Amino acid sequence: MMKSGQLLSSWQIKINNTQNRKELEKIRIKILGRKGLVNQLLAKITQQPPSKKKEFGRQINKIKKGLFTAIKKQESKLQQESKSQGQKFDPTIPTLKPPLGKKHPLSQTIEEIADIFEKIGFIRVKYPEITTDWYCFGGVNVPPDHPSRDDQETFFLENGLVLSTHTTSGILQEIERVKKPPIRMLHIAKCYRRQIDIAHTPMFHQFEGWLVDKNVSVAHLKWTLDYFAREFFGIKRVTRLRPHHFRYTEPSFEVDITCGACLGNGCRFCKEGWVELGGAGMAHPTVLKNAGLDPKIYSALAFGWGVERVFAIRTGIADIRPLFKNNLDFLNQF
Ligand code: DAH
Repeated sequence: MMKSGQLLSSWQIKINNTQNRKELEKIRIKILGRKGLVNQLLAKITQQPPSKKKEFGRQINKIKKGLFTAIKKQESKLQQESKSQGQKFDPTIPTLKPPLGKKHPLSQTIEEIADIFEKIGFIRVKYPEITTDWYCFGGVNVPPDHPSRDDQETFFLENGLVLSTHTTSGILQEIERVKKPPIRMLHIAKCYRRQIDIAHTPMFHQFEGWLVDKNVSVAHLKWTLDYFAREFFGIKRVTRLRPHHFRYTEPSFEVDITCGACLGNGCRFCKEGWVELGGAGMAHPTVLKNAGLDPKIYSALAFGWGVERVFAIRTGIADIRPLFKNNLDFLNQF
């Protein structure tokens, strides 16, 4: 009876492979039925030599028990499966929810910036990314030989068209649209320059504010910048203005914000407590004149900053390029 182990396991495999209770029942009859395997084996006892009869009987019993347990086990397994299959097809069970997407961090940031400025009356507008040399450069007082026009920086198209390099290209179009001050423009758009490194991408976003009215002063500009700094970066942050030079503003400033890590005391993340945000100033008289406004009557405050830059400063990301790669592990952090 050397083969009793093999016999047992080959039938166990057959039992375990049954797909439904009908198949299992057929096998049960083959094993335990009147003419089944167990009875056939029992019939062979008489043919055994007397010395082996006892052992033969024990082996048969072992097979019988083993197969009996295997059948019971398989029976309850099939029962479980048919129960859960029943659930799968229950039409009243709600479907699985698909994973929810969300807005790209830059889209979220743009909406937030628009909300902050809309609260103080700036109206969000968007002018074409393909624009004229006049709106982008000449009209805002950028002379023909200025470095920003260099084809190392600007994507030139045909017929005097360019890919807008900054959102300042919106101001003449906005004055032409509204015609008469007061004007409170918030121009948020894509900009394009031939640059790529950790802080620059060939396509990026800027937001540009212009307030054109009578008696607009640097004090209004400073208040507006501090208001944005507090709303966007947090209550403890303030800005400072450093003299600078832009063609469309006089005076011009570079705007710094107190460092988020040391709040102005100085640390290894910042320049002596300050982080550079972007440019600002008071409208150059020529720009107002180019839009048909009298610079003796009207003045304007202006600022233009990078969306990616303020986002990077707030979140502390060192490299902005992953914002434009579709790696959800990175994007889902924000
Ligand atoms: N256009 C400038 C740039 O792209 C930013 C800028 C500076 C905009 C000063 C302004 C301003 O409105 O007043 O770097």
